[in-house]
Amino acid sequence: MLATYAPPLGASAYRAGADGGRSGGEDAGGADPRVSDSADDSAGDGAWLRLNFVSSLDGAATREGLSGGLGRGGDKRVFDLQRRWADVVLVGAGTARAEGYGAMALDDEAVAWRRAQGLAPHPVFALVTGRLDLDPASPIFAEAPVRPLVYTVASAPAEARSALSAVAEVVDAGETSVDPAHVRADLAARGLLRIHAEGGPSLFGAFLTAGVVDELCLTIAPTVEGGSAGRIAHADAAAPTDMRPASVLLSGDGELLLRHVRA
Ligand SMILES: NC(=O)c1ccc[n+]([C@@H]2O[C@H](COP(=O)([O-])OP(=O)(O)OC[C@H]3O[C@@H](n4cnc5c(N)ncnc54)[C@H](OP(=O)(O)O)[C@@H]3O)[C@@H](O)[C@H]2O)c1
Repeated sequence: MLATYAPPLGASAYRAGADGGRSGGEDAGGADPRVSDSADDSAGDGAWLRLNFVSSLDGAATREGLSGGLGRGGDKRVFDLQRRWADVVLVGAGTARAEGYGAMALDDEAVAWRRAQGLAPHPVFALVTGRLDLDPASPIFAEAPVRPLVYTVASAPAEARSALSAVAEVVDAGETSVDPAHVRADLAARGLLRIHAEGGPSLFGAFLTAGVVDELCLTIAPTVEGGSAGRIAHADAAAPTDMRPASVLLSGDGELLLRHVRA
């Protein structure tokens, strides 16, 4: 039976402190994957699918159109450590475009830590897109240490499919929209069990609706934004999903670092 990987947010790595938890503990790599009991394996596929978001106190997922303005030191530390843990980093095309994603290449320290854990040097970068509106010449692909995966739909534009197929593995995962269950199953079949998703809201909404989310890590930034920014999950239909709190930590930057797993 495949192992199930529980979340790695060891308290020692995220201890509240004057430096925002950045000093870490003996597992400052933060990504010691703990093998959990099978009860945690909601889909029975051995995979664990985590999403990570930052939000303001009043629920804004962005400031001036980007998430980066909300997060502080603790959030950035968590963001880096979660990538360190992952077999695959999953991102919606909207976030990749808006946030100007580059290649999914970790720094030398992270690579050394991963090698010591027996992990591949870098996680696979997996993108979700219906329109395939991604530039094959962008650093996402041109500088990728590992050939990225692109999950798309059968009806995607043929020209874009052909261009992206030269630089990535393009996988059909639905007819007109990407089926999150298909994505999860395909990643699990590839042995990419530690699935770390960095958003964005449309991807989260779709994955929540499909019932394939195991964990939400949410940084509550100590700011009230007002305005009209959206929330961290968005879909046409609501999908109420009970979550169980697993840890609550306060960073030295005043951020609440929340971790909830599926109830
Ligand atoms: N607060 C946070 O932590 C956080 C995290 C991430 C992003 N964000 C913010 O969120 C905003 C982007 O929001 P977003 O909702 O557009 O992001 P998104 O979910 O990353 O991207 C949406 C796009 O992803 C593709 N997609 C997602 N689910 C799909 C499905 N089931 N089937 C087919 N395609 C699918 C589509 O791409 P195509 O258009 O290519 O078909 C869709 O337009 C940005 O402002 C970003 O800064 C905030």
